[in-house]
Amino acid sequence: MDIELVGEPLPQEGDLAVFAGTDGTLSTAARALDEAAGGLIRRAVAMLGERPRPGSVAELVFPRGLSYDRLLVQLLPGGDEGAQAHAFERAGAQLVKKAEALRIDTLTVASPEGLAFGLSEAEVLAAFATGAHLRAWRFAKYRTGEEEPPRPQRLRLVTASELEAARERLAEAHTLWAACDWTRELVAEPANVLYPASFARRIEEELRPLGVEVEVLAAERLRELGLNALLAVGQGSARPPCMVVMRWRGAKRPRPLALVGKGVCFDTGGISLKPAQGMHDMKWDMAGAAAVVGAVRALAARRAPVDLVAAVGLAENMPSGSAQRPGDIITTYAGKTVEVLNTDAEGRLVLADVMAYLVRQYDPETMVDLATLTGAVIVALGKERAGLFATDDELAAQLEQAGEEVGERLWRLPLDEAYRELVKGEEADLKNIGRGREAGSIVGAAFLAPFAEGRAWAHLDIAGVAWADRERALVGKGATGFGVRLLDRFVRLRYGDGRRD
Ligand code: BES
Ligand code: MN
Ligand code: ZN
Repeated sequence: MDIELVGEPLPQEGDLAVFAGTDGTLSTAARALDEAAGGLIRRAVAMLGERPRPGSVAELVFPRGLSYDRLLVQLLPGGDEGAQAHAFERAGAQLVKKAEALRIDTLTVASPEGLAFGLSEAEVLAAFATGAHLRAWRFAKYRTGEEEPPRPQRLRLVTASELEAARERLAEAHTLWAACDWTRELVAEPANVLYPASFARRIEEELRPLGVEVEVLAAERLRELGLNALLAVGQGSARPPCMVVMRWRGAKRPRPLALVGKGVCFDTGGISLKPAQGMHDMKWDMAGAAAVVGAVRALAARRAPVDLVAAVGLAENMPSGSAQRPGDIITTYAGKTVEVLNTDAEGRLVLADVMAYLVRQYDPETMVDLATLTGAVIVALGKERAGLFATDDELAAQLEQAGEEVGERLWRLPLDEAYRELVKGEEADLKNIGRGREAGSIVGAAFLAPFAEGRAWAHLDIAGVAWADRERALVGKGATGFGVRLLDRFVRLRYGDGRRD
């Protein structure tokens, strides 16, 4: 969908959307039309009921006294709820959903000016456009049929007073949502297309032109370095594993921020094979890595003032004659030994080596990893929130706040020392599973903790939120891009946003 921004005057034909507040106030544009149409818009608002929900839309076909084909009246949140840009993102998504259902081709959206928000008109429009864009995104590259193009094809936002400011904000929003689109595409790509080498190539192609230093460490190099846990996960596949390290130096600081992503391009479970049903979902077991590279793209594209090192461990977890076996003992990059009691608990092996590598090579002050690590986090939190684990309260609070602000919400789970007992090995330092079904997600985090080697560290288990099996507020079914906007906002909160104003 194309989104464009134009100044007034408002076009007089076609399909138009105008806004009213949940308290019944009309925007300036809505008020003018209401007068021209003898109170039609107020009646439409009244039709939405006594206590209408923000985002609801009333629809008028060939409104009397006006030359529009269709007029949509949408309620926007006002007052306190309005202070959150996220509320306008949701409204934008909802309006696009309505326009889709009505098969509207080009929708003109009148400025919300005249309604009282905690945000400027430019900010409201940018948030609205973001929601509309995220909701309209589709993974359609493999459809070859003669299908009609998805509608709406075009969204035309009309600004009343702040054309320049709105343009600037929209350009900023565009940079961020382009990164989300990229992440969603990577997540949605099937494993025959996206495997470690092709994933690494896409990262190089996309990030180098933005000024990001990208280094791909192929399997032979990983062997020299001793990243044996990452290698063990990939050793059953015909497609060798690799690690991609990215550096964005947007600020001079003594120690960088480190981001780490789990990039298991396909997770069959390995010799501890998963059941056939639903196994195709494991093509998106690289969503943590996709979110991390998407965040790096967003940060570099907006020249974020942060010293950042990011790394993704890419591997395919396959069963074969060369695959690792349950019971194998590996020596990780950090030197700790691990008994692999279940080859399906592979994500933590990948992360352990990548985390330790960044700690030892870059001495980060803070580290955040994202991973589709456990099915258990879906049992605990469902699909509404990702699991958050942290060794540092301030870091946890900043991530939680960022999540609230962008609508990618987290819920903190415990990581007490006591849980470390569960991953103590019998014949090696650690084992990669705990006790039966006890605290599965915490066990995953407890396994990772020693590899952060005392750094302020947070782990986001995104297994429940990376892929939507039903429509969500901002996104349709499929890859959600969870983590990109969250990390971008987190970096703004922690390191400032570098805006001139
Ligand atoms: N990639 C899976 C976790 C997962 C499951 C993500 C379902 C999304 C949906 C992970 O590698 C895995 O298999 N975890 C095991 C761990 C267990 C063997 C300790 C799990 O959750 O069952
Ligand atoms: Mn697995
Ligand atoms: Zn996995």
